[in-house]
Amino acid sequence: MIFPSKIEISRSAVKSNIRFIREKIGRKVRLCSVIKGNAYGHGIHSYLPVAEEAGVSYFGVFSAEEALYADQVRKPDTEVMIMGMIDNPELEWAIDREISFYVFEFDRLKAAIEYAKRIGKPARIHVEFETGLNRTGFHFTELEEVAALLNDEREHISIEGFCTHYAGAESISNYLRIQNQIHNFRTMAETMNSYGINAKCNHTACSAPMLNYPDTIMDMVRIGILQYGYWPNKETYMQYMLKDDNKNRDNPLRRVIKWKSVVMSTKNVAAGEFINYGTSYQAGRDMRIATVPVGYCHGFSRSLSNLGRVLIHGRRVPVVGVVNMNMIVVDISSLSQVKKGDEVIVIGKQRNNSITLGSFAEMTNKLNYESLVRIPHDLPREVVP
Ligand SMILES: Cc1ncc(COP(=O)(O)O)c(C=O)c1O
Repeated sequence: MIFPSKIEISRSAVKSNIRFIREKIGRKVRLCSVIKGNAYGHGIHSYLPVAEEAGVSYFGVFSAEEALYADQVRKPDTEVMIMGMIDNPELEWAIDREISFYVFEFDRLKAAIEYAKRIGKPARIHVEFETGLNRTGFHFTELEEVAALLNDEREHISIEGFCTHYAGAESISNYLRIQNQIHNFRTMAETMNSYGINAKCNHTACSAPMLNYPDTIMDMVRIGILQYGYWPNKETYMQYMLKDDNKNRDNPLRRVIKWKSVVMSTKNVAAGEFINYGTSYQAGRDMRIATVPVGYCHGFSRSLSNLGRVLIHGRRVPVVGVVNMNMIVVDISSLSQVKKGDEVIVIGKQRNNSITLGSFAEMTNKLNYESLVRIPHDLPREVVP
């Protein structure tokens, strides 16, 4: 293979995760698949069509750049929503492509109206409310002015949504804050309605609120991490599995991603020799080692030096010595049959064993979210059944 490693995207795992999410939200609620962060590392270009095949027709991205990638591969009826960064001049492109975007400040709102007038197409906006995250969103005191502007410019604006984002619904320690946010959202939506402004849909929940606070589900949910087969955190997983109906069940989510490489070469090392740079690993016996062309430039963190594991022939084998820029050395002394070209699994399953992102992330003290998005954009993605 030309590339030292590749990412496989499992179509059946996506289908199964989407089915699970749909069971939770019911038939009437729309599912927006969140594909920011290069589809959480899975690759927008590869992931979006697979999610479309699983019945998803609405995608949430962070930026205009990501919207462009989504636009390159989406079906004509598939909708794209920008939840974060878009510079005012790019609004014209978004309006023209019927890409909706969040509006959380007057500057963007006014610019959207101007561009909509100029090109004769309505700007499709989601009015974001500041309910307590304190990141982006209109404050309650600004709503009257927002509503006045929207009332004046009705023909140039399509109000696709009222929305907000919760401040950590995956942890019970934020319970009161989340309850306040739910309350604030309702009050703000009702206030807008009382000014004569209605949205096509209300959407507030991402993965954790959808599971932990069913009140947040409303008309649409914006789901990221769950669709890729990961829980927002351990607490949410435990909360879910401890519910009566779920006791004695297996984890309903399936990992979508598999990170594969190959054995680049093998060799013997005599007892007493140091392996790879420096002196961090000394062979305590005669050893057989394999080099694998995955290093910190591919997102395999240096902190996995002498700690990480990969799978070869279905067995976990340890990284010995430091992680290099482009490769690692692993101890295959217990696997006499291993040869150049054999499959290596960096993340995923091989025979009866697996390296989960969780274990990979825990070794490096990273969240699933962070480890996923660090998987490099330039590794090839291959969709497999
Ligand atoms: C505005 C917004 N909506 C939805 C999501 C999806 O969150 P999750 O991956 O926890 O489902 C995110 C991610 O952080 C977000 O920022």
